[in-house]
Amino acid sequence: MKNSLLALASLAFLLGLFVVDVNARPAYKAIIDAMDAGDDENAAGLKAAVKEKKCGACHGKKKSMRNEAGMKLHVALKGDNEDWKYDKELYKKADGKYSDAAVKSIADAVKAMFAEEE
Ligand code: HEC
Repeated sequence: MKNSLLALASLAFLLGLFVVDVNARPAYKAIIDAMDAGDDENAAGLKAAVKEKKCGACHGKKKSMRNEAGMKLHVALKGDNEDWKYDKELYKKADGKYSDAAVKSIADAVKAMFAEEE
C-alpha cells in the first residue's frame, strides 16, 4: 500500500514535470501562428508548415529532436550567444498576449532563419 502510493506520487510528479516542459515552448508555435508574414514567402511557408504539422513543423516525434527547420530556428534565436537559454519570462503571456519583445524575437529569428539561404 505504502509502495503503491509512493509510485503514484512519483508518477504524478513525473507527469507534472512533463507538462511543465511541454508548456514551456509552444510559444514558438503560437507566435508564428499569429505572426504576420507579410509578403515574405519563406515566412509564409513556415507559417503554413506550422499550421499543418503543428509541433511537427520543427520537431521529430520526441520534442527534444529538432528537424531542419527547428534547428535553424534554434540557431537563429541563439545568434552568437553560446549561453543562450530559453527565456521563460520573455515567452510568458500577460493578459493573454505575448509581449512585443517576444513576438519581435521570433519574427527576427524567422528572418534570420532564411537570410543565410540566399
Ligand atoms: C517554429 C518551430 C517550432 C515549433 C512549431 C515548435 N517548437 Fe518546440 N522548439 C523549437 C526550437 C527551435 C527548440 C529548441 C530550443 C529553443 O531554441 O528554445 C524547441 C524546444 C522545445 C522543447 C524543449 C526540448 C529541447 O530540446 O530544448 C520542447 C519540450 C518543445 N520545443 C515543445 C514543443 C511543443 C509541444 C510544440 C507544439 C505545441 C512545439 N515545441 C512547437 C521550435 C519549435
